[in-house]
Amino acid sequence: MRQKIVAGNWKMNKNAGQTQELITELLQNLPQTEAKVIIAPTFVNLAQAVNQTKGTAIEVVAQNMHQAEGGAFTGEISADMLTNIGIKTVILGHSERRAYFHETDALLANKVDTALKHEMKVIFCFGEELKDRQDKQHFNVVEYQLKDALFHLGEDAWKNIILAYEPVWAIGTGETASPEQAQEMHKFIRETILERYGNDVAENVSILYGGSVKPDNAKEIFSQADVDGGLIGGASLKADDFVGIINGI
Ligand code: G3P
Repeated sequence: MRQKIVAGNWKMNKNAGQTQELITELLQNLPQTEAKVIIAPTFVNLAQAVNQTKGTAIEVVAQNMHQAEGGAFTGEISADMLTNIGIKTVILGHSERRAYFHETDALLANKVDTALKHEMKVIFCFGEELKDRQDKQHFNVVEYQLKDALFHLGEDAWKNIILAYEPVWAIGTGETASPEQAQEMHKFIRETILERYGNDVAENVSILYGGSVKPDNAKEIFSQADVDGGLIGGASLKADDFVGIINGI
């Protein structure tokens, strides 16, 4: 049975006090669910968030990390620094990292390798731009993102991979992909993995959808056969919205 997951990517939001406040509200209102509930605060608040959620149903993850073990990389964070404070999962390949920090699939393959070497799980983000879809190239784009960043991995490594399909045109725009569009691409992703790795990996990898998921559309998107949950941006910054989305899974 695939793990259902609802993950909140807080991006560059919430200072220390606001982080503590949101986590307190989430813990007070978290519904009973089979789904794994994840939050990704910003780096400076990770240690406090890990401490505040210890022993609870919320996992705290990082939004990024560097591929090197350490050294002269000003402003960067290593896998060891994250695991050392109790972070076991990292988001990699988010479209904002690809756009603003020019992260390529080749670089992301290195980041994935470093995370796996440190026995971390990876939430790997990918998805097409609007023009790709308009040009009917969205399946090709997604296929190459997967192949170039992940298809060097052995079968066993996939137990630590979570996929997050995030069509760039749906991120932060309110233009959510329709449930049919989400299912169509998630099915394609699963079939692409099936072809390369076989049924075991394909059937067990969780594929999350991200891109303007809200409490009023979560249930329909999450009910799609190949959608195993969501990676939530804006709606993860308010406890009642995030709880409303969790109730949809
Ligand atoms: O990583 C999730 C994020 O990119 C989706 O953002 O605000 O459209 O839910 P949002």
